[in-house]
Parts: sequence; C-alpha cells; structure tokens
Amino acid sequence: MRVVVFGAGAVGQLFGARLLRAQHEILLVARTEEVVAIRGHGLRVEGETEGVFPVPAVDALIDGITPDVVLLTVKSFDVESAGVELGRRLRPVPPVLATQNGLGIESTLRRGLERGRAGSPVPVVVRAVHTIPVTRLGPGSIRQAGVGELVLGRPAPETEAAAADRFAELFDSAGFTVRRVSDIEREVWRKLLVNAAINPVTADHGIPNGQLANEPWRGQAEELLAEALQVSRAEGFDFSDEEAPAELWRVVRATAANRSSMLQDLRRGRPTEIEAISGELLRRGGVHGLKLPATERALERIRRRVRERAGPGT
Ligand code: PAF
Repeated sequence: MRVVVFGAGAVGQLFGARLLRAQHEILLVARTEEVVAIRGHGLRVEGETEGVFPVPAVDALIDGITPDVVLLTVKSFDVESAGVELGRRLRPVPPVLATQNGLGIESTLRRGLERGRAGSPVPVVVRAVHTIPVTRLGPGSIRQAGVGELVLGRPAPETEAAAADRFAELFDSAGFTVRRVSDIEREVWRKLLVNAAINPVTADHGIPNGQLANEPWRGQAEELLAEALQVSRAEGFDFSDEEAPAELWRVVRATAANRSSMLQDLRRGRPTEIEAISGELLRRGGVHGLKLPATERALERIRRRVRERAGPGT
C-alpha cells in the first residue's frame, strides 16, 4: 500500500519503519531536522523494534502524489493545520487515520480538511488510539520502549468501515497488535483518562512513567484520574471505579521506562497536548458544573512550563 505518514515524530517514524519492513511504499513527512538525519543515516530504531530503515522522507507534501492512505501522526495542536495542508495538496484526500491523544480530534481534523479541500470529495476520517510507547532519542532516532496496541473502531458508515478495515490490515501486516472495538469514542476516553493522569505529572516532575507508582506522584495521578473519571461519566462513558485505575496502572507498568509524550515535548521546548487533554476536560467539566481543582492546577503548571520554554532537568 502507498502510505503517507504526515507529521512523522517518534510514533509516525515507528509506523513508517515497520510498514517499510512489511514491504509497503512509505513517505514520511517530517520536520527538516528529522528529514536531514533520516536521509543521512537512515531511520534508527531500537528497543522492541530494531534496525536502520531507509525510509523516504520529505519536509513538505509534494503536489501530485497519490497515496492510498494517510496516517496522521501530528500532535493534537497541529491537527487542524495538517488537515488544511492535506486538503490542499492531495486531490482527492485518501482515507486519513487520526491517532492523537485528546478529545475532539475528528471534528478539528474535518474542519481543517474542509478549509483545504476546496471542492474536492469529502475525505474519510478514521479515529484510532494507540498505547505504543516510543521515545525520540534524537533526529531520526527513536526507541520503542514496549509493545502496546492500536485500537480501531468499526464505524457504521460503509465508506468508513471499509477504510477502517484497510487500516487494520495495514497495521496487522506490519506485526502491530490491532484491536477492533464497536465504540471507538469509549476507547478515546479510556486513553484520555490515562493521559490525564500520566502526562501532566510526569511532565511537571521530569520522571519516567514507571515512577508514578511511587508517592508523591502516585497520589497526584490518582487525583487527576478521579477528576477525569467524573467528566467521562457526565459525558456518558461509564468506566467503573475498578476499571479506570486498573487501566492506568496497567499502562504505567507497560510503559515504565518511557518518558511521556508531554515530558518529551516540554524537554524539546515544544507545545504540549495539555489543552486537548486537561484543557478539554476542564471545558467539558464546566459544561456539567463540575469542579476539577487538580486538573486546573496541572493545566496551569504545564502552561507555565511551556511559557518558560524549558522542561525539568533540561
Ligand atoms: O502520551 C503518551 O506518552 C502515551 O499516550 C502514554 C500511553 C501515556 C505512554 O507514555
């Protein structure tokens, strides 16, 4: 299959490497420093996946290419502008898989695609979530710290269902664990609960995920989880008191050696996904009249760190 990985940071690079190895035709669209490094020494991957992969990489989408699918792996704050770019450059836009953390990603992406596509057919968007821990070691160099899975929905509309099947086959062909679910929104919330608890605490304190099992971080993560759980229930997603913590500690154990994406972003002086995670929880909590003091504090602390343009221990 001809695959464009748009916004190939650590996760997108891993997808590209594994799909190349499975004989797919890959084009990574990544930041210039990543492209220069990948062209220079190949894409270096260590950990669960090992090797140096000669993946073609460019720093901007070229007009006239016709991929079968797009894997959109930009961070949540870049989803809308990525949609505009895909809409402008690809005619027609093939099915797009969105794997970001956070809420409201599909509507943001559709808004961007709508702005960019100028009359070309409406693209199919498929939402997925993943728990594959990947850390960027440097330009064009990543470590896959654990296994994880890609969770894909079974959308009802026929075009979306067919596209979701293709994405499932694609990832399956590259040896990823793919789980199909009837309700992807519930999975998006399940992941959000985990991100709401792990990401701000690890980013604020500069600790790998595994350290969250210890106090005082454990208590902070549990407080954030409890608040996120209240919002999920108010929104109609009824995770039980056992299910949510069990999932949190399962992910913490599975990604113990990993640095959360938010910590990695802070350390690189980049924007973080705090707005799509804690910001969106606060916005939705407010609609339901919920008070979320721990989430509010976490949001403010990460915003302050972003303003300071430096993560802890940098
Ligand atoms: O954002 C992240 O870092 C990941 O979603 C997760 C699962 C928390 C692992 O680090």
